[in-house]
Amino acid sequence: MAKQPNKKNQEVETTGHQWDGIEEYNNPLPRWWLWTFYACIVWGIWYVIAYPAWPLVQSATAGYKGWSTRANVAVELAEAEAANAAINAKLETVELTAIAGDPELQGYATSAGNAVFKTWCAQCHGSGAAGAKGYPNLLDNDWLWGGTIEDIHTTIAHGIRNQEDPDARYSQMPAFGEILEPAQIDQVANYVMSMSGEPQDASLVAEGQTVFAENCAACHGEAGAGDIYQGAPNLADAIWLYGGSFDTIKETVTYSRFGVMPPMGGADLSEAEIRAVAIYVHQLGGGE
Ligand code: HEC
Ligand code: HEC
Repeated sequence: MAKQPNKKNQEVETTGHQWDGIEEYNNPLPRWWLWTFYACIVWGIWYVIAYPAWPLVQSATAGYKGWSTRANVAVELAEAEAANAAINAKLETVELTAIAGDPELQGYATSAGNAVFKTWCAQCHGSGAAGAKGYPNLLDNDWLWGGTIEDIHTTIAHGIRNQEDPDARYSQMPAFGEILEPAQIDQVANYVMSMSGEPQDASLVAEGQTVFAENCAACHGEAGAGDIYQGAPNLADAIWLYGGSFDTIKETVTYSRFGVMPPMGGADLSEAEIRAVAIYVHQLGGGE
C-alpha cells in the first residue's frame, strides 16, 4: 500500500525504525502527562520516607511520621479506659447488691457486661444466653448453683469443676452404672420422669422411688427439687440440662456427667468485667 504522507509526517521526526514501510514517530509526551508523571514520582518518594512502606521481616519501615494504625487503636483504647476508669473503680468496690440500686452503675454494668458476654460466654451459653445441651440456659430462674448476684459472681469468677481454680464450684454425681443394677436404673429413670410428668412406665415408679430415696435424694432432695450447694439440678421442673427422655436420663444416671466451666477471674477478666457480666446475667430475667 502506498504511503499516505500527511502534515505531521513531514514535521515529526521518526525514530528511524521501519517495518514493512511503517515508520515509528518520535512524538514527545504531552506536557501535562509528563509533569503529572514527575509529580507522582516525587510524591512516591516522599510517601516511602514518610509512611510505613518497605516490608521487612517483622514489620515494615516505620516512616518519619511514625504513623501506625495499631498505635492509633491503642491510643483510642487508652482514652476509652481512662474515660471509664472512675466508673470501673466504683463498680469494683461497691457492694454487689448495691449496684442494682444505682441506675447509672447498673446501666453501665449491663452494657459492659453484654460486651463481655458476647466475647467470653456466648460460645458456650449461646449469644442470647439460652444455653444448649450441657450448657445451662441463663435466661430462666432455674439455677444449678444459685441465682443471687453473689452466687452468679462466684460461679463466673471461679468456674465449675475445673482444675485451674482451687475455689471452683465442685461436685460429682457418681456413675451409677457401677453401683446399681440395670433394672434399678430403669426404675429410677422412670421415677425421675414421673416427677415432672413426663410419660413414664408407671409399673416401675414405686420401686424407682425407693432407689431414688436411697441413692439420689442426698443430692437432688427428697422431692427432687435439687440443691444449689452441690449444683444438683432440680429434677421435678421439666427443665433439663442434658435432657429428659428415658434414654438420656438413663445415660446420665449410668455414666454421670461432668459439666466444666473455666474460671474467668485471674488473667482473663478484671474484677470490674466479672461484676459487669454478673450484673448482665442477673438482669436477664432469672436473677434472684
Ligand atoms: C467452655 C464453656 C463455658 C464458657 C466459656 C462459659 N461457661 Fe458458664 N457454664 C458452662 C457449663 C458447662 C456450666 C454448667 C456446669 C454444671 O453442669 O454445673 C456453666 C454454668 C454457668 C452458670 C451457672 C448457671 C446456674 O444455673 O447456676 C453461670 C451463671 C454461667 N455459667 C455464666 C457464664 C458467664 C457469665 C460466662 C462468660 C463470662 C460463662 N458462663 C462462660 C460452660 C461455660
Ligand atoms: C453426689 C450428688 C449426686 C447424687 C448422689 C446424684 N446426683 Fe444426679 N446430679 C448431680 C449433679 C451435680 C448433676 C449435674 C451434673 C453436671 O452438670 O455435670 C446431676 C445431674 C443429674 C441429672 C441430669 C438432669 C438434667 O437436667 O439433665 C439427672 C437426670 C440426675 N442427676 C439423676 C440422678 C439420679 C436418678 C440419681 C440417683 C440414682 C442421682 N442423680 C444421684 C448430683 C448427684
